[in-house]
Amino acid sequence: MRYEIQTAQTEDMVLQKQSQPCHFGDLDSLPLGDILALLRKAAEFRAQFGENGFVEPTLNHKCIVGAFFENSTRTRMSFELAAKHLGAEFVNFQTATSSTAKGESLRNTLRTIQALGASAIAVRHSAAGFPYFAARVLDIPVVNAGDGSHAHPTQTLADLLTIQDAFGKLDGLKIACIGDFLHSRVAHSFVGTLLRFGSSVTVASPATMRANRKYCAELAEPFSQIQWTNDVNEAIEEADVVMALRIQSERHQSGRVEPGMAAYARKFALKPAHLKLLAPRAIVQHAGPINEGIDLSVAVARAENSKIEAQVQNGLFVRMAVLQYVCQGGEL
Ligand code: CP
Repeated sequence: MRYEIQTAQTEDMVLQKQSQPCHFGDLDSLPLGDILALLRKAAEFRAQFGENGFVEPTLNHKCIVGAFFENSTRTRMSFELAAKHLGAEFVNFQTATSSTAKGESLRNTLRTIQALGASAIAVRHSAAGFPYFAARVLDIPVVNAGDGSHAHPTQTLADLLTIQDAFGKLDGLKIACIGDFLHSRVAHSFVGTLLRFGSSVTVASPATMRANRKYCAELAEPFSQIQWTNDVNEAIEEADVVMALRIQSERHQSGRVEPGMAAYARKFALKPAHLKLLAPRAIVQHAGPINEGIDLSVAVARAENSKIEAQVQNGLFVRMAVLQYVCQGGEL
């Protein structure tokens, strides 16, 4: 993981309102007012869509490309639907059948996509920092659809909208994150942003899945405010929001989840007994895809206070807001 590179590159991904293109790399460089404006726009799209079944097609004649070098279901599909609902074309770059398999470089692949007329590109890659690289070589807006363990900003917007729906605010809440914080881009964007809004965050995870002090300082300053524990009960006590994290087996450098998957699940999987400890208004979130029985039990995922499908639905509307935002140079 290249956190030193990311820290320097983050400065390049600050929303560039003065000069085009307008990239969307992570939320930590975005003013809180802009984040709230994006959430308002997403809620507006949701209301219009609910009422009329369509929204004003503000991106007519635009072409959005989804370049997913790593697997995805909900993010890729929601970018595609978001583009289409706004009147844009959507082209899905297929890695396996592309000329990258014949050795074409990533730089030349990206430049080819731009030369074919893409208006904006949503990128996902296993390498942290990939969107910053793409932004350097392209003249069109780049949207981060998930980069390695670093960030997943559009997922966080979906998660925040779901929290706003439940509590009407993003400040003063008690947030519990359970599981593999170290390798989770979902957790990094989510926790960093909620801390900035003034909510408190407790993370329950094994020692092997925590972020150390040096890592926190390099990744994002607000992370120094996280409360750490290895006790799930302690984390969820009085929590308003419990976010279960996917164990990111593919990103564990040893190739093995320590302390072993079964031991991990015994201690950190959210179970029905945990729900009984939650306040009646508390909600459970998971960004998906779920490792059932390891991140959380099926019963918890399907419980009344689970907002997992609401997160997916909100993902569509926040991506509509983000595509409009970048295609209109940072305006909504
Ligand atoms: N939450 C998320 O990024 O899911 P996908 O990998 O299915 O896009």
